[in-house]
Amino acid sequence: TTRVLTGITTSGTPHLGNYAGAIRPSIQTSELPGVDAFYFMADYHALIKCDDPQRIARSRLEIAATWIAAGLDADKVTLYRQSDVPEIPELCWMLTCVTPKGLMNRAHAYKASVDQNVARQAEPDDGVNMGLFSYPILMAADILMFNARKVPVGRDQVQHLEMARDIAQRFNHLYGGGQDFFVLPEVQIDDEVATLPGLDGRKMSKSYDNTIPLFEGGAKATRAAVARIVTDSREPGQPKDAEGSHLYTLYRAFATPQESLQFRRELEQGMGWGDAKNQLCDRIELELAPMRERYAELMAKPQRIEEILQAGAAKARKISAPFMAQLRAAVGLRPAV
Ligand code: TYM
Repeated sequence: TTRVLTGITTSGTPHLGNYAGAIRPSIQTSELPGVDAFYFMADYHALIKCDDPQRIARSRLEIAATWIAAGLDADKVTLYRQSDVPEIPELCWMLTCVTPKGLMNRAHAYKASVDQNVARQAEPDDGVNMGLFSYPILMAADILMFNARKVPVGRDQVQHLEMARDIAQRFNHLYGGGQDFFVLPEVQIDDEVATLPGLDGRKMSKSYDNTIPLFEGGAKATRAAVARIVTDSREPGQPKDAEGSHLYTLYRAFATPQESLQFRRELEQGMGWGDAKNQLCDRIELELAPMRERYAELMAKPQRIEEILQAGAAKARKISAPFMAQLRAAVGLRPAV
């Protein structure tokens, strides 16, 4: 069997980028024969950038409901909350002690904060907490704890996966004694949606405030967001540059290759941006409408979701607890009883 694992940070409402980049591919993968899937709400990661407890709880519920509404079979997959697995922060500490600080200095998320500070002539580390700095180590612990081989994510996570491999190799080298503790994980990226653009053409992201919400606000909110997608000023009747438009990139993430080709031809033959937006909305709705109802039902039953997550945590800990005992012994700590 192939162990597959991915997580979503519980700091906001799931958007189309999360859906197309991680949720949809993770569900498709979980249905393949021989796949043992581990999917989780990364709530420890959320603490790095969110100090609002209610928002974290709400986001966790939304993400779990989204996964299930989108078709995840919680009996087949292990769906859990990161913070229900205490072995993860414990492993994180062991990995922290074998990770060179220089590796973390190169992490994109940290570097982006430093660059911003330098640009506005502030202290380089202004507003940077240690959680942000060592974020990739916690992510490595998530993955290595369950020896995941494949990790379905969007392109923005590729560097984190490379770091997880580096850290795993280092631990194996130091403590393995010929036997490897950790499998080296690989990214699984859907090239069509590796980076879904947001309303302004930059990567769709909570932090850019350019997202199209998945279910929150209903079909109306999706339509209103799509109406705000930035396009060039070409009028209906004028040929459009499909390849250069992020509206076309968004469409491709929700249509078959034939439909995309057709859409592209219509744009090149002068379809107006308004019509194109309508077509995009219809395509998104076709996929999401059946899920919306299930999502609303699930959101009305938080207790049901809580039960699913508790059951998931129990399944996850059957693996993490004995593995952690092995790792403790390997580094010279007392093995668990
Ligand atoms: P997060 O919560 O920022 O995003 C969750 C997933 O959604 C993908 N994604 C996108 N994909 C395509 N286009 C976009 N515009 C877009 N925006 C987000 C992300 O690539 C991600 O797959 N560090 C992770 C969470 C995490 C994790 C892990 C993932 C914690 N531990 C272990 C995998 C394995 C994060 O913050 O994702």
